[in-house]
Amino acid sequence: MLIQEKVVDSGLSTTIPMLAVAVLAAGKGTRMKSSLPKVLQPLAGSTLVERVLKSFSKLEADRCLLIIGHQGELVKEHLGHRKGVEFVLQSPQNGTGHAIQQLIPLLTNFDGELLVLNGDVPLLREETIKELVTEHRNRNARVTFLSSRVEDPTGYGRVFANDEGLVSKIIEHKDCNQKELSNNLTNAGIYCFDWKSLEKVLPKLEGKNEQQELYLTDTVAMLTPALHIEVDDSGEVSGVNDRKQLAICEELIQTRLRQYWMKEGVTFIDPSSCTLSEECLFGKDVVIEPQTHLRGSCLIGDESNLGPGTLIKDSILGKRTQVTHSVISQVKVGDEVKVGPFAHLRPGTNIESNCRIGNFVEVKKSQISTGSKVNHLSYIGDAILGEEVNIGAGTITANFDGVNKHQTVIGHRSKTGANSVLVAPIVLGTDVTVGAGSTLTRNVPDFALAISRAKQLIKEGWAKLKVNTN
Ligand code: UD1
Ligand code: MG
Repeated sequence: MLIQEKVVDSGLSTTIPMLAVAVLAAGKGTRMKSSLPKVLQPLAGSTLVERVLKSFSKLEADRCLLIIGHQGELVKEHLGHRKGVEFVLQSPQNGTGHAIQQLIPLLTNFDGELLVLNGDVPLLREETIKELVTEHRNRNARVTFLSSRVEDPTGYGRVFANDEGLVSKIIEHKDCNQKELSNNLTNAGIYCFDWKSLEKVLPKLEGKNEQQELYLTDTVAMLTPALHIEVDDSGEVSGVNDRKQLAICEELIQTRLRQYWMKEGVTFIDPSSCTLSEECLFGKDVVIEPQTHLRGSCLIGDESNLGPGTLIKDSILGKRTQVTHSVISQVKVGDEVKVGPFAHLRPGTNIESNCRIGNFVEVKKSQISTGSKVNHLSYIGDAILGEEVNIGAGTITANFDGVNKHQTVIGHRSKTGANSVLVAPIVLGTDVTVGAGSTLTRNVPDFALAISRAKQLIKEGWAKLKVNTN
């Protein structure tokens, strides 16, 4: 077979066969019962289609064609920023074979291999794709695809092949008879085709099947030789058609991640109760207590202790931090900081080293400098706290006047008494003391004591003066 080659000019003249990749992402995903198109379902923080695109990103394909259809605009919007992705519209969505037929006008001059990836097979590893392409080239096949032997083949196309790996046909689950259903060698939905051969047989597809769709899998019986490669780990080619399969894939990713980090020196007290994202990085001797979840990109310093019952998103925590029963999102935390129990640190907050953020404290978009303490029952929003500030229990920064947000500034070593309200905009100097129960509306100079509350009144013997009117 003739394969077009690109010439790489590197002094030595080298030739590399051309490779195009097509991702099938036009289906509705009826079984998902969702308002989102299936390929936009999230899995451990990224969507199915993002995972599929990532799986071949290092392959340096000459073309990358993403077939969209059902809610295609949404998929396009989601991936719009990606360079080199050509969006191909399939409308209506009349099956996987029909989806690939849409490429015929786009690949008229293309002569090489077409790698086809189902957009709902998200755990595929780059090495496996490379092996598929290499094996296909070495054995000079018209099509080579991945197969997998599974315990429960329900829903998958069944592969009929001889002992040498030569495939005669694929039959979809819905079209199998009782005997064919007992075959547990399944089609993974990942194919490497010789494009020129595929191009010739694509127009011959017919929708004579249960779903009355044009199946890409029917091309396999029309191409000789057709080969399959059985993957070692069937989990890697799990397809996601419904929420149960989505949960299975999530669990597979989570297990992979936890096992990786355990090898790298992280302790999980109750591994299966915790979830991570692939963008999390941990130092040595980090301990993760039960029911702790990390999302987005997080960086956790050595010897930190997270949880139990904690959610951390897109945050950086220093060394030896301790976070208990708390929620932290888009926050930077220095070394040796204690957070919680029951604290909520919101976006834009920066907490320097040796601080303490205690029980039932909410901090939003604030700077808390080294050694400061906000121990109990406080709201600190749009504030800048100097070093070694002590915020008394129940102190509130009243940052919102109903229309705008305003800033509170508290200088080094200042202290607020219990139940203080600081009405922003307001500046408290350094070494200021605020009397308990004060509501402050004006700035306070350095070293001053500010008290603003009703004077205490004592009426001696008042209880005895009460007259019984009955
Ligand atoms: C498909 C295979 C099946 C295989 C399984 C592996 C066919 C006919 N069947 O079945 O042999 O075992 O994957 O997971 O190919 N899509 C389009 N346009 C369409 C229809 C689907 O782009 O008109 C896309 C979907 O968005 C999806 C992919 O193709 O990403 C596969 O479609 P799906 O309906 O999930 O096929 P399966 O029933 O899983
Ligand atoms: Mg599927």
